[in-house]
Parts: sequence; C-alpha cells; structure tokens
Amino acid sequence: MRILVVGSGGREHALAWKIAQSQAVDKIFCAPGNGGITHLAECVDIKSDDIFGLLDFARKEKIGLTVVGPEIPLALGIVDEFIKAGLKIFGPNKKAAALEASKIFSKQLMAKYNVPTAEFKVFDDPEEAKKYIEKKGAPCVVKADGLAAGKGVVVAKTVKEAKDAVKAMMQDKVFGDAGKKIIIEECLTGQEASIIVITDSKQVLALASAQDHKSIFDNDQGANTGGMGAYSPASIVTPGILVEVMEKIIYRTIDGLAKEGIDYRGVLYAGIMLTKEGPKTLEFNVRFGDPETEAILPRLKSDLVEVMLAATDGELTKVKNLYWDSRACVCVVCASGGYPGSYAKDKEIKGLKEAEKLKDIVVFHAGTKKMGDKILTSGGRVLGVTGLGTTIEDAIDKTYKAVSKISFEGMHYRTDIGHKAIGQKVSRI
Ligand code: AMP
Ligand code: GLY
Repeated sequence: MRILVVGSGGREHALAWKIAQSQAVDKIFCAPGNGGITHLAECVDIKSDDIFGLLDFARKEKIGLTVVGPEIPLALGIVDEFIKAGLKIFGPNKKAAALEASKIFSKQLMAKYNVPTAEFKVFDDPEEAKKYIEKKGAPCVVKADGLAAGKGVVVAKTVKEAKDAVKAMMQDKVFGDAGKKIIIEECLTGQEASIIVITDSKQVLALASAQDHKSIFDNDQGANTGGMGAYSPASIVTPGILVEVMEKIIYRTIDGLAKEGIDYRGVLYAGIMLTKEGPKTLEFNVRFGDPETEAILPRLKSDLVEVMLAATDGELTKVKNLYWDSRACVCVVCASGGYPGSYAKDKEIKGLKEAEKLKDIVVFHAGTKKMGDKILTSGGRVLGVTGLGTTIEDAIDKTYKAVSKISFEGMHYRTDIGHKAIGQKVSRI
C-alpha cells in the first residue's frame, strides 16, 4: 500500500518512521515533509492546507491511506473531500474537527454531556469580558475560540494580564477572526498529562500516556511553546486515573458527539489536568500531539497502519489490543534560539550521525531542510531527540547523551525533560 503523510514536523517524522515499519506499506510520501523525512519518504512540495492539491496528488499516485498530522487541514475539511472522492483518509471530518477548531463548541459539548472541565463563560463583547474578569478576579484563563497556532491561551495571574489578553484577542485582533469570541475560564491547578486515543466512533483504543513540557525554560518557566519535550509513560496516570479519564472524558465526548450526529474517527487527544477533584479536560485536539507522538510511537509494538485502517473503515473491533514496549521513552526538543519568538534559520546542524549511532536513539526532525548533503535549520522546533531506556532515568540519560552530540548556532533545549517522573512508581500505561 502507498501512504501519504500530511505535515512537516517532528510528529510527521515519527508517524512516517512508524508507518515505514509496517509490512503493508510499499511506499510513503510526505507533503511537504522535512530534511529528516526524506530518508523514509518521498517528500512532495504541496502545503498541508492545500486540500485540493493533496487530493489530486493522492488520486494520481493511487494512495491507499492518507494520514493527516496537523489540525488545519482537518478543520478545513480535508477528510470530507477525500471521502467524497472515494479515498481513504485517517482523521476526523470537518464537523468533528470543530472539537479543536472551536473552543466554544468543545466547551459547550463538554457542559452538555457532563465531561469534567474548568467552569467557563463565553463572550463576544470585550467590555463585558473585562467586567466579568474584574468581578471574578485572577488567576483566570482567557482563550480565543478559534485556531491560533497554539498561542490562543493566556493563563493570567493578574486582572490586568487577563484584561490585556482580552484586548489583544478581541480589539487588536492578533489572531484575526479566531479571537472574535473568547472564553474566560477558571484556572485549574495540578499536573498535566496527554491521553491520546484512536477511535472509529464506537470502539476506542488508548495509546500510552505522555506528558508534554510546554514552557520554553527549565522548571516550567517562560513562554508557552508548542512543546519542548515529552516522555511516556506519564507515571502520574495510574491505571485508576486512566479508567476515570476514559469513562468520564473520552467515552462521554465520543458518545456525546454521536448523539449530535457527528461520527468521530481518527485520533482524539485530551489534554488533562489532574486536579484534587480528579482529572479535568483542558482541551481537545483532533490529531496526534507534538512532541507526545515522538515519545509514544517508539514504544508501540503493534502495526500502526493496521490500526489506522481499521479505525478509518469503522472496524476497530478487529484490533483487540495495542502492544507496548514497557521501557520509558523521552523526547528532548532542540529549538532555534529565540523560539517561540523570532529566530534565525539556515543554521547547519552538526553531529546528527554521531547521535543517531547511539543505541536506542532516534532523532526526529521538525524544522529542518536538506541542502545537498547538509541539514539546515528551518523552523522554531528543529529536532526531537528521542531515547528509550529501561527506566525513566536511563531514558533521560541516553537521550541527553545524544543531545550533547548535536549542535547548531543558537541551539536551545530544556535540561529537565522527564524529571517530574523521576522517583515516581513506573506505570505501564
Ligand atoms: P491549550 O492550548 O488549551 O492546551 O492550553 C495551553 C496550556 O494552557 C495548557 O497546556 C495548560 O497548561 C494551560 N491551560 C489551559 N486551560 C487552563 C485552565 N483552565 N487552567 C489552568 N491552565 C490552563
Ligand atoms: N503538545 C501539544 C499539542 O500537540 O497540542
């Protein structure tokens, strides 16, 4: 079978890497791909939001399954168009993708179907929003309704910060129409975890748990990023917590969507805060997490293509179980200096071969491009250096040894990825 992976980040490299291990696969294409994916797949110069360009390509190249990485093509309805054209594609349709594309839709669905989440209120008038903030006080969380490249959430410590966020989103329109409406919600506290499942709208298979590290600096300091590293399993997700997340969050959401006439197929990602009152939903994403995918897929022993095909066909019951490597996995993101703000590009990356030679290490590329036989930086998050170890400490140790072989001008990485799990009892999920 010929597979097309849509996207260009570390997540897509990890997907292509895992897909390449499947017996069912003859050839992989990736649109547009990156400097690392070129070793596994033919990279084609079609942007991930060019739905009709991708559709023409998939038709012409007789693609058996298209796997969508990022949220934008899903929100634009790539799945609906491929299905209309009789092509197989793994992911939710446009209506279902609203779970990520509209935070208001997502919160209202949670409220209707009793899915635990932070208390919230929706606003379309900035003055009303500011009055509400003054009444409620800080801390509080201000969220743009629409997609804002992961930047649409402000966890405000003070009333001023919250009101500034309202002004930026609704009056200065920094996210365009995505900030026309906003949500103001209660600030939750606790540890975060990512629970990612694959579903055909009836059957659900949970992937191994993971924990992301969103802040740019060690000890969760500094600006929020797309994710500076991840590890799996997230030992705070005990078997009991997983059951609670599945019953109260995942099943209630998928069943609630079905009651609304929405057939949800593909990946459902729940960002969870483990509060004193139990797990609560921070957000839903309708795609694999990045960098969680880089830390989860090296532990997956089952054939991912078989699972994605079964979910796409509505036959996930065929897959009885997913099998996991019991070792821990750590992914450390190497970013360009200045990220998540502005940063330089086209810096040569050195030491990749030395890092990749190390046992149990795989280096996933994110913002890279190939220039002759050199690999250059081309984005904010550049690499996801990933290692497996018998314990979390072992995985951390191996991964940072690999990171130390790699260099490029301005390279920045956190030195504490996985540290929260040290000393915690190892959970196998
Ligand atoms: P999101 O894009 O919705 O995942 O939000 C980004 C990050 O903001 C989350 O990973 C949390 O760290 C934080 N966040 C979102 N909602 C809340 C909330 N209600 N309380 C505290 N932190 C939150
Ligand atoms: N790592 C967070 C996300 O994929 O949205």
